[in-house]
Amino acid sequence: MSDRINKDFATNHHIIILGYMGCGKSTVGRLLAEQLQLPFVDLDEYLTNKYGDSIPILFLKNGEIGFRKLEKIALDELLVNQKTSVLSLGGGTPCYADNMQSVIQATPHTFYLSPSLNMLCNRLFPARSKRPMISHLSTKKDLLEFISKHIFERKQFYEQANHPIYIHDESPAELASQIIQKLG
Ligand code: S3P
Repeated sequence: MSDRINKDFATNHHIIILGYMGCGKSTVGRLLAEQLQLPFVDLDEYLTNKYGDSIPILFLKNGEIGFRKLEKIALDELLVNQKTSVLSLGGGTPCYADNMQSVIQATPHTFYLSPSLNMLCNRLFPARSKRPMISHLSTKKDLLEFISKHIFERKQFYEQANHPIYIHDESPAELASQIIQKLG
């Protein structure tokens, strides 16, 4: 199956997966890369490997603004230097500096994964300690309120992606198939 997909699919452009924390960027991106037989890069993982620190420690050492600078440098490196890959961004990546512009200029294959607020809240609540932007929120109600406002601010960036994908109850594999269909 993946041989057939790979034979029929050729691109010089990266495939970029973006969206809010917890939307499934890494899981879907990894599956997609496997199916298309392309390398997979997760921007958070790339940063962690590059600097030898976890994301919370990078925030702690550099502050959020410092982290955004490191994130921008890493994104530019990946867009320019890497061979064609499936690339999953961090949830904030498209919303800082000229990152979204750089992404759009680099490739027409940009996919915005957008689950419902409730789905995001349920996924993020137990995992919030690993995410410095939401680790201070102690109740689900506070988290829901925070992410509603945060997504409202960020969606103007996310919606610049060529392909919005509004998620209902599709599995990661189904989402990867939808993306492959949209690649043509
Ligand atoms: C962030 C999202 C995280 C990570 C960092 C900041 C954000 O990535 O880059 O914690 O500002 O939304 P994930 O979306 O992969 O969790």
